[in-house]
Amino acid sequence: MYSENRTDDAKRFMKAWMSDCIAHFVPRLYVRLTAQTGRGGAEESVQQIADYFRKCFYEYFQMLNIAPDGIPGFLKNKRILEYGPGNITGIGLLMYAYGAEQVICVDRFPLVSMTQKNIDVLHDLMDKLSGEQRCRAEQAFNKVGDPASGFTSHSIKYRVQKSGLSGLVKDVDVIFSRAVLEHVNDLDATFSDMYNALRDTGIAIHQVDLKSHGLHRKNPLDFLTWPSRAWSLMYGHKGVPNRWRVDKYRQVIAKKGFQVTTLSPTTLAEEADMRAVRPYLATPFRGISDADLSWLGFWLVINKAETQSAHHSRS
Ligand SMILES: C[S@@+](CC[C@H](N)C(=O)[O-])C[C@H]1O[C@@H](n2cnc3c(N)ncnc32)[C@H](O)[C@@H]1O
Repeated sequence: MYSENRTDDAKRFMKAWMSDCIAHFVPRLYVRLTAQTGRGGAEESVQQIADYFRKCFYEYFQMLNIAPDGIPGFLKNKRILEYGPGNITGIGLLMYAYGAEQVICVDRFPLVSMTQKNIDVLHDLMDKLSGEQRCRAEQAFNKVGDPASGFTSHSIKYRVQKSGLSGLVKDVDVIFSRAVLEHVNDLDATFSDMYNALRDTGIAIHQVDLKSHGLHRKNPLDFLTWPSRAWSLMYGHKGVPNRWRVDKYRQVIAKKGFQVTTLSPTTLAEEADMRAVRPYLATPFRGISDADLSWLGFWLVINKAETQSAHHSRS
């Protein structure tokens, strides 16, 4: 393992292991103590959070080559699944406002909370819409136009599952997530869930962040040098990065029988950083090519088209 200070690393291990025990045995307490939002630790204003959701929403359609005025036509009557919305189902509200029939959000952790700040964010998202979209956003709530009353069950459903999986079968047309797949504990199971949940003409779009999420020491890639067992003891129940690189995603996608429309990197690592960690990489990453090691994030668009043959096992 790459290390510049063994004592610091031992302390880091002990601290992380103890907090992982809290996350394992009392997950709600862990979520409360760490005040997780899903968007990192930075203090954000209502406006900044709402802007983040609007940006993410439009980026999904840019990646799908759908112009803003084509969004309502695309979403009309579509059923949508989002993995890991964080603490506000803001993108879900926008998807519904723009025409989706229903949005189902599934998370492994119970992060969504209706605090006044989160209600204000939903207000901001709704208030900046107009016409048909504004009207639909208002109708998404139990009391029309009042986010504090909660979402109606036919607009946005929020489910917390220990597995993080939807369990749906051929039920949705579009699946999306942002900064989630790098957190899932069983990538294989999540892609199976996606395959099962999608209707035959469905598509899935994900943005994946392969950076360390603040868990590196000096070199941005040195978190890949902790042995798997140590990493799992430190972080296995907190939903922090599973560390899988893009090569693993390619394998899982191919195994499930998805067809890839887009797989493109968003950020690349420095060559010097890769060279410094290469001799110390943990076992699962030893055989990785330099090209794949360099990917620190990517966009992925996949679909089920032409892959309906019976020989694919989805379990
Ligand atoms: C970094 S946050 C991203 C939140 C949100 N998508 C955003 O962009 O603000 C990761 C989210 O994934 C969720 N998550 C972690 N493991 C998961 C799993 N196995 N299945 C579904 N969601 C999971 C977390 O609880 C959290 O909501």
